[in-house]
Amino acid sequence: MVPVRLTGPRLAMREYHHTEGDVDALHALFGDPEVTRYLPFEPRDRESCADQIELYLEEAMAEDRDTYRLAVTRLEDAQDPRDAAPIGHASLTLGEHRAAHLGYVLARGFWGHGYAGEITALLCDFAFRALDLHRLAAWVDVDNTASAKVLAKLGFQLEARARHGRLKGGVRSDSYLYALLADEWRDPDGR
Ligand SMILES: CC(C)(COP(=O)(O)OP(=O)(O)OC[C@H]1O[C@@H](n2cnc3c(N)ncnc32)[C@H](O)[C@@H]1OP(=O)(O)O)[C@@H](O)C(=O)NCCC(=O)NCCS
Repeated sequence: MVPVRLTGPRLAMREYHHTEGDVDALHALFGDPEVTRYLPFEPRDRESCADQIELYLEEAMAEDRDTYRLAVTRLEDAQDPRDAAPIGHASLTLGEHRAAHLGYVLARGFWGHGYAGEITALLCDFAFRALDLHRLAAWVDVDNTASAKVLAKLGFQLEARARHGRLKGGVRSDSYLYALLADEWRDPDGR
């Protein structure tokens, strides 16, 4: 495996480590019902977060890697970004025809600083330049206005509304599909 490391102005993204610190950090995200409100799963306990990291590492070792789940850290938290505790999670799932879906999640204490835009810009750069993908898409709950704004600001276009496509806690909900094509991508940091 060639470990992925992406660095932006304020954030870095790296592979997960199977350490107590990374399990705690993932649990701080996926165990928080406010954070998972618009995600397709219920809050997870610490053990299941540890299992998730095992899975992420297996996915990272796959010969033809098609899934990237990365820990998001802040540059200001450590000299070497590899040592910093994750404050968020990012994902890129490759499908057919050079298309992929992306996702991002931040711990509650880090909302409202524009970090999700930086994560998405780093994923776009990685997907379109390093992986030579053609299309990136994301599903967003119709009530998740913060997430929709993040994508729209980076040029993602609203393509569809999937009605009752999600079922969680016995409640069905609608999601928007946003997508961006490689030739539409403009890096806001001008890289
Ligand atoms: C959605 C999420 C990623 C947004 O990340 P963020 O870094 O806080 O986003 P930003 O700081 O760039 O804010 C984006 C916009 O939403 C607004 N916003 C932030 N939090 C908001 C909230 N709770 N409700 C409504 N708007 C909100 C911001 O003011 C900003 O608006 P502006 O562009 O008009 O200034 C973050 O809230 C999060 O991790 N949520 C939980 C997981 C999740 O829903 N992930 C996305 C799944 S599609």
